[in-house]
Amino acid sequence: MYRGFRILTFTHRHHNLRDISRFMIQADSSGDLKERMSAIKQLMGIDELMYLSTCNRVMYLFYIPDDSPAFDAAKFLQLVNPSIPNTSLEKDALLAQYFEGQEAINHLLEVASSLDSMIVGEREIFRQIRESYDQAKAWNLSGDNLRLLMKLTVQAAKDVYTNTGIGNKPVSVVSLSVQELLKKQPSRDARILLIGGGQTNLLVSKFLVKHGYHHIEVFNRTPSKAQAIAQKFEREAKSLTDLLTHEGGFDVVFICTGSLQPLLTKDLFDQLSGRETHDRLVIDLSVPANVSSEVQQAELVDYVDVEHLRQIADQNLGFRREEIGKARQIIQRHIASFKQLFHERLIERAMSEVPAEIKAIRQKAVEEVFRKDLESMDPKTREVVDSILLYMEKKCISIPIKAVKQIVLSDMPSREAMQS
Ligand SMILES: NC(=O)c1ccc[n+]([C@@H]2O[C@H](COP(=O)([O-])OP(=O)(O)OC[C@H]3O[C@@H](n4cnc5c(N)ncnc54)[C@H](OP(=O)(O)O)[C@@H]3O)[C@@H](O)[C@H]2O)c1
Repeated sequence: MYRGFRILTFTHRHHNLRDISRFMIQADSSGDLKERMSAIKQLMGIDELMYLSTCNRVMYLFYIPDDSPAFDAAKFLQLVNPSIPNTSLEKDALLAQYFEGQEAINHLLEVASSLDSMIVGEREIFRQIRESYDQAKAWNLSGDNLRLLMKLTVQAAKDVYTNTGIGNKPVSVVSLSVQELLKKQPSRDARILLIGGGQTNLLVSKFLVKHGYHHIEVFNRTPSKAQAIAQKFEREAKSLTDLLTHEGGFDVVFICTGSLQPLLTKDLFDQLSGRETHDRLVIDLSVPANVSSEVQQAELVDYVDVEHLRQIADQNLGFRREEIGKARQIIQRHIASFKQLFHERLIERAMSEVPAEIKAIRQKAVEEVFRKDLESMDPKTREVVDSILLYMEKKCISIPIKAVKQIVLSDMPSREAMQS
């Protein structure tokens, strides 16, 4: 019954990331992409088409009529990227993962629930799938089948994210580093130095804002490049040499630069500390480390490095993976309910023409076949005949719909059986 749903996909599981981009639709603009997708849809005889492209996944989700000839993946790939040489098309097609029917539905739900992600539990993929569908819908490339399937996908993925711990424990180095800070429960007035103004410290700064830290100084090799971070705390970014003259002490340092040499040396650390002799948290997100081994081991220093955070990330990822079994059960329950919904929708579609056809039969009977007989009747008899015809018309419309529903539903497991 679900045979029409198909997925052709290339992911990090079977390809290196550089290769995946070959299977993306080659388009220069969104208008171009829309045209290319419409052409693929038409040339492949596809009813509905949706396209998802991320840095580690390319997915084509489509609905194809049941009586279509066998799907030709090589021809599809040629339309997707005409620069793939003919000689490698067959081989590339074999490397794709291809799913049909219930397997395709299952795959989509597992992807949306992030069970198939590089980092299990990352919800970003859920947002990306919804956006891809919105795009397909806005471009009139999708229809009723993908609409129903997306409804199922959204319900199932929400259920998984809400009722399992799949996304609960953080696994990104930056969010874990901020958790390390929160574990120490420093006051929101803690004096924090951010050394480095790249992408990583930019992310750190967002977490610091979120948690209400405000006493923050930002230092970077090129101060102008760190200005956006400093402005979050109503400060001016300073240069690394300004660290040498920094006064006012500190409680916490986040250091993250591309320097291959330690920047936070013992001399600099002592200079920054002044006369204060309390514990300090030093979080070093750089690879290689930007904090000298002398500072790392100093008595009053609580040092956290990337290696330590990676170990926590691995443990948390292990916890997330353990939730996969529970997530799969939830997905199976949703797929079972979908079967009923999809059946009913098929019937509705098949039956949508019945009323018009019966009306047409009645009209033909009145206006052509029995016209003369009806004209010879007196008004009272004519009124009775019209009433009988109208009554019959209504009954005739409901009989086939009821009968088909009964046949199909008797073939379905009960709701209780599906939920058990
Ligand atoms: N383990 C992890 O998961 C992970 C994740 C992300 C990053 N990292 C590490 O974090 C570091 C920076 O990452 P990022 O994402 O912030 O990179 P980024 O956005 O490229 O920024 C690099 C930063 O390092 C500074 N920098 C580069 N070379 C320097 C040098 N020789 N001396 C002083 N400053 C220098 C840059 O200063 P300018 O603005 O002046 O160019 C900039 O502030 C790298 O070591 C990276 O390996 C690790």
